[in-house]
Amino acid sequence: MGALDGTRVLLVIGGGIAAYKALDLIRRLRERGASVRCVLTKGAQEFVTPLAAAALSGQRAHTDLFDRADEADIGHIRLARDADAVVVAPATANTLARMAGGHAPDLASTVLLATTLPILIAPAMNVRMWLHPATQRNLALLTGDGVAVVGPNVGRMAEAETGPGRMAEPDEIADAVEALLARGAPLASRPDRGTLLAGRHLLVTSGPTHEPIDPVRYLANRSSGKQGHAIAAAAAAAGARVTLISGPVTLADPPGVTVMRIETAREMLAAVEAALPADIAVFAAAVADWRPATFGDEKIKKGPEGPPPLALTENPDILATIAHRQQGRPPLVVGFAAETTDVIAHARAKIARKGCDLIVANDVSAATGVMGGDRNAVHLIGRDGSLESWPTLAKDEVARRLVARLAELAPSP
Ligand code: C5P
Repeated sequence: MGALDGTRVLLVIGGGIAAYKALDLIRRLRERGASVRCVLTKGAQEFVTPLAAAALSGQRAHTDLFDRADEADIGHIRLARDADAVVVAPATANTLARMAGGHAPDLASTVLLATTLPILIAPAMNVRMWLHPATQRNLALLTGDGVAVVGPNVGRMAEAETGPGRMAEPDEIADAVEALLARGAPLASRPDRGTLLAGRHLLVTSGPTHEPIDPVRYLANRSSGKQGHAIAAAAAAAGARVTLISGPVTLADPPGVTVMRIETAREMLAAVEAALPADIAVFAAAVADWRPATFGDEKIKKGPEGPPPLALTENPDILATIAHRQQGRPPLVVGFAAETTDVIAHARAKIARKGCDLIVANDVSAATGVMGGDRNAVHLIGRDGSLESWPTLAKDEVARRLVARLAELAPSP
């Protein structure tokens, strides 16, 4: 039936307006073949009812730690055990704090403390709460414990603010559940969790951007995001706390990485700035250089006057903006240079112009198949003019070698 056939998901629904999307998530998980059992926090019940969760999941929804009927039927320890993965959606700031601190005042938090299953959280909260150092600290503790994170996305929020904080979409969460179950044991308990970048925060941009022309059309490019995502995965495997800011791609979230999804270059810049400070920033995204100068709310109609003119305006250069920052510049800033001719000469010019410390240059002319392909041949060019050329390698291997190089180059935390 689906990619989650025969799997059992325990869905902890937290209190927040995004709880209504958790109901849709139940449906999406079941469509993919999972059975879903729900636990609702008290806050969640202000937004959705246990009855709705029960009706959609086809199983009783659980709410109380000291419910005698519940304990006789399935105790909280069995709830924490009888599943293949636990998903927390929406994960509020309060839920994150409880999880990070090991507090267990209610059924949801008790189950989360008692479980040894892989956990995926889908944070959803006000922008300022998300960006608060306390929340970011809690998040770092949780990812360090091996908890997987999906979202939050950048976008308009219920309070008409814009920024990171919107819960990931149900299908994105279901994709992340698939990725979580594919990787098996929680990250923290896996033997290959390295220490090369332990204690470091690494920020990666990846994928293309989509620049809207009207509500249904956009400008884009052929970037798949494979190289950027591979770098995020390799850095997390090397023990870093990783924030991946991704344009629209069809890849699963790398395990143990905080993923922020954006569409446009301007949203990507806002997300990067929100994710700082970082020890290392790797700008692997293929950001659109231009966007349509105007954007209307209505679809542009075909008419007798012929095709409309498409006037373009420049997008912010995210790499250059961050690399030229006077304050809060990550100590190691890495750019990419995708070129079709004179790869090295262009990359040398770019390193000075952009103000970064290292450029990873590659040939993306049609013959190489790099754009969208699984292999990459890169040259590393340093600010001092140094040049190192690697053979054609799988993008995963390029990522591992690059992470090892970043660990050498980054100043001690
Ligand atoms: O100028 P060019 O697009 O070739 O530079 C490529 C590098 O600059 C990449 O690291 C890319 O992620 C970054 N970039 C950016 N913002 C832009 C354009 C490129 O961060 N608007």
